[in-house]
This record gives sequence, structure tokens and C-alpha cells, in this order.
Amino acid sequence: MSAVVTLDLKEWRPPLADEVPQRVSRALEEGGVIRLPHVNFVLTDSERRFLSPAWSDGRAKNISLDGGRLKGAVGSPADCAELTAMIARFAAAAAELVTALFPRYAPYVKRARSSYRPQGVVGREVSWRKDDSRLHVDAFPSRPSRGERILRVFTNVNPAEDRVWRVGEPFEVMAKTLLPRISNPVPGASAVLAALRITKGRRSVYDHLMLNLHDHAKADLTYQRECPQETVRFAPGTTWLCFSDQVMHAVVAGQFMLEQTINLPVSALYDPARAPLAILERLTGHALVPAQ
Ligand code: SIN
Ligand code: FE
Repeated sequence: MSAVVTLDLKEWRPPLADEVPQRVSRALEEGGVIRLPHVNFVLTDSERRFLSPAWSDGRAKNISLDGGRLKGAVGSPADCAELTAMIARFAAAAAELVTALFPRYAPYVKRARSSYRPQGVVGREVSWRKDDSRLHVDAFPSRPSRGERILRVFTNVNPAEDRVWRVGEPFEVMAKTLLPRISNPVPGASAVLAALRITKGRRSVYDHLMLNLHDHAKADLTYQRECPQETVRFAPGTTWLCFSDQVMHAVVAGQFMLEQTINLPVSALYDPARAPLAILERLTGHALVPAQ
């Protein structure tokens, strides 16, 4: 069965029948990718000049907007102000979409980071751990989540080329295969990493497992080749959403994408029992984050 659910919505703030949020939130929280081929982010004539990798400073992978600050971009102050406004407009649109589709998530849409990814996917030299063309779930070494979810909204703003992903097997199936390979965290390591400010706060056992699932999946080329997977195409002008900490995903091709990350506490979910935290606690038989 495909992990992709395609909906024929046409607006960022679509009028929705009552049962739609219930149906779509279940699909999303079960690990689906929600694809909206007719929800487009239209660039203004002036913004079309940003469809070039030349706006990247060459150091960061993406141009990002976090707390109103633009990072990773080069350009005059006027160019940077316009780039900031474009990404902020996308962030506002993504927030409206998430609020309409998933009213329970609405209180959290403001705590978001946005990025613009002007680099082509093919041909970038990166280490295997950073290689997002390998199937993985998102987990960030410096930012422990302690179970918080990573909801991402993407739009392919390329006028001509699809963005292409591979989407892998369900989280629980992947975790059953890879968990037995993961050793326990080194005692005291999470305190040391936090004290040295290598991590923003303490890494929980949940974070240790998620980072290792990310790494073990990417490191195993046989798994990459042979695990059940499908190719998913996102045509120009398509928007899609998924929990990237749950969906096994890999990017195959594409250039020019806007992305919004929304972090959600597990308590905001419609069904917390489907979250990676609950699945991993069930599979390991342990509580994996400190009690709140
Ligand atoms: C990723 O989150 O792994 C990359 C997705 C993309 O660049 O399309
Ligand atoms: Fe990813």
C-alpha cells in the first residue's frame, strides 16, 4: 500500500468538510505523506530571480529563516530583505494550511523554522551521514527532541522539474530491523554533551535511538537497496507534508524547494500511540524520555 495520500485541495486555507481533518490527521500520524498537487506557492515576478543557487553562501546547505533571521544567503541588503519576505510569506501560508488541516496543531505553528533550498540535489559531495539521498528518519545530533515531533511542509517551487523522493517502509517495521543493532548510550555521555553545549539540552534515550536509527539506515547499503520502497514524484507547484521523524524518506532529484518545520509535543497529536516515541517504548519495553 502506498504511503502517499493525494488530496485535491486548491488553497492554503481551504474550506474543509468536518471529516477531512480527522481522516487526514490519521493518515499523517500513521506515517503517510500528504500530497497536494494544487496547493502552490506562487513566486512574484521579482522573486523568480531567487531561482538560482547563487543566493546560497556556499557554506550552509540551505538558506534558513529562524526567529526572523536570514542565514546562509548572500546578496545586497535589499535582496536579503526580499528573500526574507518570500520565506516569511511561505511560512505564513504553511501555518495556515496546518491550522486548517490539523486544528489541534494550531497552537504550535508559530514555533517554526523555515528554509529555502536552492541547491540541486544531484552531484553534491557529502558524507554518508549527511547524505539525504539515503533513506532515513530525521534526527538532529545537536538538537535533542525528547519525543517532540518534526512536522514538515514542503513546496516544489521549481517551474519545470519534479522533486523526487523514495519513501521506505513503515517506522515500526524499520525499527524492528534496526533496533537490535543499536548499543546502549554511554553512561554520562548526554550530560557531558550538554555541558559542552554540543547538544542543546540533554539527549534522552529516545534521541540516542533516533540518531542511531538514522545512522544505521544510512550506513547499510543493502538495506537501502532492498527494503520495501516506492518512488514518489512531486511535480512543480506541489505541496506535501509528513512527519519526517517517522517517514523513511530520501531525496533523489530536484532543485528549489521551500520547507517549513513545525515541532509538536506528543500531547498535541490526535493519537500519541502512533508516534515514534510510543512505538519505540513499546518495542524496547522502557520509558525513553524523562517524565515531564
Ligand atoms: C530530507 O529531509 O531528507 C531532504 C528532503 C529534500 O531535500 O527533499
Ligand atoms: Fe530528512
